[in-house]
Amino acid sequence: MDKIKIFGGEPLHGRIPISGAKNSALKLMAAALLTDEPLVLERMPRLADTRFMAHLLAHLGVEAHEEPGGVLRLHAATLASTFAPYELVRKMRATFNVLGPLLARAGKAKVSLPGGCAIGARPVDLHLKALEAFGAAIDLEDGYVIASAAGGLKGASISFPFVSVGATEHALLAAATADGVSTLDNAAREPEIIDLADCLNAMGARISGAGTPTIRVEGVSRLGGVSHQVVADRIETGTFAIAVAATGGEVMLEGAQGGHNTALWSLLKSAGVAVEQTEEGVRVARNGSRCQAVDVETRPFPGFPTDLQAQFMALMATANGVSVVRETIFENRFMHAPELARLGADISVHGHEAIVRGVPGLKGAQVMATDLRASVSLVVAGLAAEGETVVHRVYHLDRGFERLEEKLSACGARIERVTE
Ligand code: EPZ
Repeated sequence: MDKIKIFGGEPLHGRIPISGAKNSALKLMAAALLTDEPLVLERMPRLADTRFMAHLLAHLGVEAHEEPGGVLRLHAATLASTFAPYELVRKMRATFNVLGPLLARAGKAKVSLPGGCAIGARPVDLHLKALEAFGAAIDLEDGYVIASAAGGLKGASISFPFVSVGATEHALLAAATADGVSTLDNAAREPEIIDLADCLNAMGARISGAGTPTIRVEGVSRLGGVSHQVVADRIETGTFAIAVAATGGEVMLEGAQGGHNTALWSLLKSAGVAVEQTEEGVRVARNGSRCQAVDVETRPFPGFPTDLQAQFMALMATANGVSVVRETIFENRFMHAPELARLGADISVHGHEAIVRGVPGLKGAQVMATDLRASVSLVVAGLAAEGETVVHRVYHLDRGFERLEEKLSACGARIERVTE
């Protein structure tokens, strides 16, 4: 199993190209099931999760070809199967989003209940309620969802009881070719929702209001092929920005969409970090003294993203003062806290809150990655720590960060992968 070895204490200087967003790419890939024409995705990140999704799509009959320069061509001329087995769904929750497109295209599907990072219970009740509202009959049997919509899906009005990114995306994928008009109230507003709506619209869908709490979808009878560029990854952007804040230095995050991280920029500025949005991307710099402690609470977009909470906690571990980190999206997302403590952080967790008492410096140690964002928070801490840090179980990291060691080394970090 691979490990990552870091010799910390080097400031980061240089340029980091930002990849396409994993969490957008996965749902865009599912959209390929909705058309018999090719869907070409540009700026596709090469990740374990996107490969995993491609395996599932291949099983369903989608031909996938990777082309140079981050291009993925997906073609579902006909469907080979409407069955998504446990082995192909269990590792990653986003695979569950094939259910709606399969129902829309074939009128039936059998899809395993999903797995994913162990950060909370993560049910799919909102996804299933949305599909039922569109007229699907749904049964749960032996860990599988068995769904049918013999007469096709019908447009419907849905009001989500709370904001869910995945359920909003699933509803969009299902409503695009449903018969009639759908409205989604209390919809998620994340940039990934806008990206999916833009791609579906380019394919011929009629979606308006994406990025606001109310989305309207006028169902169309068919969708066609298109080329679409995946939105820049705001979580990768935020992670590197936090890494620069933690180590000091100055980095240009090339291609980053500054407007997608405003909650993070305002916290970083309060902590004493310089952030400048330019046409090229976002420049982040910190010179001299330690960051100031600031409190953070995770919220749906445009609030502070839960996917940056672990990294921000790593930054606060060496800040001047006490920071309260509150997690409101997932119930079990503090698994990085005891690992950060191994590096010398002073963190106490009380339910949904972690109290981080900043220490002057961290010291390298052996640590264990528990989930994707937790593992990168250990890398951030290791980059700032004195001496050697070894991060075990880096397969978590490979799910969502493209060429992480390469991008950081190019900015002066001493980081390497060790394969055993
Ligand atoms: C997406 O997960 C992301 N994953 C997550 O990123 C991200 O943390 C999350 O959105 C929030 O931004 C992908 O896009 C693949 P939700 P998703 O539905 O869609 C509860 C990462 O590290 N809920 O917005 O699963 C749920 O348990 C990952 O890249 C229900 O109760 O998140 C959670 O508490 C981790 N029933 C809350 O809603 C449902 O049917 C928000 O989850 C659906 C969700």
